[in-house]
Amino acid sequence: MPNDNSPSLRVKENRIICGDSREILPTIQTMSVDLVLTDPPYSINSKSDGQGKLSPWADYMNSAMFYEFWLRECKRILKPTGALWSFLNWRSFPVFAKASCEVRWPMESVLVWDKKWIGPGGPNGLRPSYELVALWAGPEFSIADRSLCDIKRCLWASAKPFHPAEKPVKLLRWLLEISGGQSVLDIFAGSGSVGVACVELGRDFVGIELDSGYAEVARRRIEAAVRQQRLEFGAGASAPLRVQRPTGDLLESLGEHGSDGTDK
Ligand SMILES: C[S@@+](CC[C@H](N)C(=O)[O-])C[C@H]1O[C@@H](n2cnc3c(N)ncnc32)[C@H](O)[C@@H]1O
Repeated sequence: MPNDNSPSLRVKENRIICGDSREILPTIQTMSVDLVLTDPPYSINSKSDGQGKLSPWADYMNSAMFYEFWLRECKRILKPTGALWSFLNWRSFPVFAKASCEVRWPMESVLVWDKKWIGPGGPNGLRPSYELVALWAGPEFSIADRSLCDIKRCLWASAKPFHPAEKPVKLLRWLLEISGGQSVLDIFAGSGSVGVACVELGRDFVGIELDSGYAEVARRRIEAAVRQQRLEFGAGASAPLRVQRPTGDLLESLGEHGSDGTDK
């Protein structure tokens, strides 16, 4: 381990870390990441029923504290040319708005993702067919293609074999392509869809996932994507991907002294 307490984890190659982003984010080097592309739990599971002392707003604001934490950390670890994209929906939007204000980092844009698919919805209202993806930009970030607008159509298949909230790799690839940047971090990696998109585009990727089952699914998907790339493009062999737990050894292996790609 480095002998000071400064954050040392770097996003250098394809890795899935099984752990809590709240613990791992503070170990990542300041201004070291090009892009964070992530899909957090929307966590609007209101515990209060609106009848007692607490209104659901209190639950919203508790969620905002969680969002505020990782938003602030993302702001710290991104290079000035970097950016953060996060999925959200209209229910979680107020939570993001509050967190964003607290961190003093306004959203730059909010993309409407038209899923070309209509969800079941509730018994009385409209059936949902879109989700949102918000962009927070570093001071020197800009989207090169100035013709792009803030609506993107991309089919969300009704079959999601890897995760109930799985996002289309095609959409993630598009977000990566329009944003640029080599090192990509997903702090709520789920089944590793962002990692698969990164492999396909030759980007460096680190994914953090709390649930060990999903971390394992992500590992397998990313490894399959690497194998596919080798078949198609004959890329050289690389060390097998492992799900890693954030031990001191791991932090050292991800630090400035390089990485051996082994499971600790
Ligand atoms: C909406 S899902 C992501 C789905 C992903 N986009 C995919 O395509 O599979 C959010 C994920 O965040 C994980 N998660 C929740 N809290 C976390 C935390 N504190 N640290 C890391 N992962 C967390 C959940 O286990 C869940 O798999």
